[in-house]
Amino acid sequence: MVGLTPVGIAGLGRYVPERRLTNQDLEKVVDTSDEWIVQRTGIRERRIAATDQVTSSLALEAARQALADAKMDASELDLVICATVTGDQPFPATACRLGFDLGAKQAGGFDLAAACSGFVFASQVAAGMIQSGQYRNILVVGAEILSRILDYSDRNTCVLFGDGAGAAVYTSLERAGRGEFLGGSISMEGGAEGVLAQPAGGSRHPASNSTVEQRQHFMKMGGTKVFRFAVRVFAELVNNVLEKYGRDQVGVIVPHQVNQRIIESAMEQIGLPMDMVFSNIDRYGNTSAASVPIALREAFEAGRLQKGKLVVMPAFGAGMAWGHLLLRW
Ligand SMILES: CC(C)(COP(=O)(O)OP(=O)(O)OC[C@H]1O[C@@H](n2cnc3c(N)ncnc32)[C@H](O)[C@@H]1OP(=O)(O)O)[C@@H](O)C(=O)NCCC(=O)NCCS
Repeated sequence: MVGLTPVGIAGLGRYVPERRLTNQDLEKVVDTSDEWIVQRTGIRERRIAATDQVTSSLALEAARQALADAKMDASELDLVICATVTGDQPFPATACRLGFDLGAKQAGGFDLAAACSGFVFASQVAAGMIQSGQYRNILVVGAEILSRILDYSDRNTCVLFGDGAGAAVYTSLERAGRGEFLGGSISMEGGAEGVLAQPAGGSRHPASNSTVEQRQHFMKMGGTKVFRFAVRVFAELVNNVLEKYGRDQVGVIVPHQVNQRIIESAMEQIGLPMDMVFSNIDRYGNTSAASVPIALREAFEAGRLQKGKLVVMPAFGAGMAWGHLLLRW
């Protein structure tokens, strides 16, 4: 049997739109307060895409930064995977537009829909394809414009989410020289359509006058259920890594940026100090599939990815679907 090709991350990128939507701005459109939002979530502001931007425009900016960081031309890419639940349109895949805009002339592409776990799952797909020798260079992007499916009259959801994109270029560890892929996990528990979903627009509830009137094209969420689920799986995922590798090996935890209280509760359960977590939730809110790669790039810029130490990325969200990505930097 031929051995597996070790995989690494050659480049990281991120992009967030210019426009900031602060808690004070939200106080003017919905019955909420800065104090409530900060206390319950840690979020102070989030970014909102301009009207002329689509998800692939955000993805393009993040991808260009990641490719520049990787010192790789787009023509070298074999595959483009875009993790998103708010693509440019239901089909064709946003990855096809992104590949075209980038000039990735040799690449195939597809989208991966796993909501907040999207980047973590897509990264494992990419790494597996490089390990097997099928492909050499793969771009994985997590990109979302959640503001287009948020109901700004529903205070339960509209305060929590924002727009953005993050990207990673995977290649052989030999070429990348850093960010060794050590594995991860992908889990799901179906039947949770009512907990966190965009109910209409698919085959279950096709678009109709009534789905529009009932505001079924906007995101719906049962917050408390999601909170408990998120704390439980976050703690389980990190504990599994600690058991296998030991606490001393872990450099930083870069979790899905869901809610500061979820992160704090999980870290308390695990028994690890908060300074082992990288969080930017205060500035961007929850950007779903974009949250982990945006945070990963910012952790890199902040010098939080320590040479030789583990980077643990737990993610969880709609499905319910959850999993983690594990790198050695
Ligand atoms: C949504 C969330 C912040 C609510 O926090 P919480 O501590 O559970 O909220 P509480 O139970 O203390 O309060 C709920 C009350 O606050 C109200 N409320 C909800 N959003 C509000 C807002 N933006 N401003 C003011 N009040 C709000 C609710 O209407 C409810 O009022 P009621 O008791 O009169 O019905 C929290 O459950 C959460 O973060 N859940 C996870 C959501 C998430 O991250 N989803 C994405 C996962 S990928």
